Amino acid sequence: MGSKKLKVAVLISGNGSNLQALIDACEEPSFPAQIALVICNKQKAHGLQRAIKSNIPTKFIDHKNFADRESFDREVNESLVENNIEFVCLAGFMRLLSPWFTKQWSNKMINIHPSLLPSFKGENAQKQAFEYGVKITGCTVHYVTAQMDAGPIIMQEYVNIEDGDDLDSVKEKILAKEHLIYPKSLEKIANQLIVK
Ligand code: GRF
Repeated sequence: MGSKKLKVAVLISGNGSNLQALIDACEEPSFPAQIALVICNKQKAHGLQRAIKSNIPTKFIDHKNFADRESFDREVNESLVENNIEFVCLAGFMRLLSPWFTKQWSNKMINIHPSLLPSFKGENAQKQAFEYGVKITGCTVHYVTAQMDAGPIIMQEYVNIEDGDDLDSVKEKILAKEHLIYPKSLEKIANQLIVK
């Protein structure tokens, strides 16, 4: 009771349904993490409204105002440090991160990707899988390293692609699994980090 919670920032660019899943999980009193900041690089992203609705501090940082990737990342890092953030969750954050940033947050930053890694890295992973014709796909939570979608895997969940499925139904099935394993992964990691 009253034990310390891991201070987490979530980085988003869009709808923020995974952010919502994390917010909902954090509302559970026994959950070992709290979302202390949401950073977004798109002013109109719906995810920002989700954070505001839950009284979570938000910060909009427009990548277009920075000359290069690393200077944007340094600004993001400054906000994280200012807010005493201990751990970062990427949730639909559509920016590649510089090696400088991934090193700063090495072992302290995770991402969710909509395929069973190492298959179908990069953008439109659900479409890649669907068009390839695989019968099983899914989602992966992994640590973020300098190589895109290649860090150590924390958790995966699969979905079957049935004959009647189209791309939209596959995306929906995957997203539903994402909303389960992202909070579960954060819970597992936060419990380990807090015990240390
Ligand atoms: C998800 O499919 C996630 O796997 C990918 O980006 C999408 C974000 O969706 N990294 P949302 O903004 O959380 O709804």
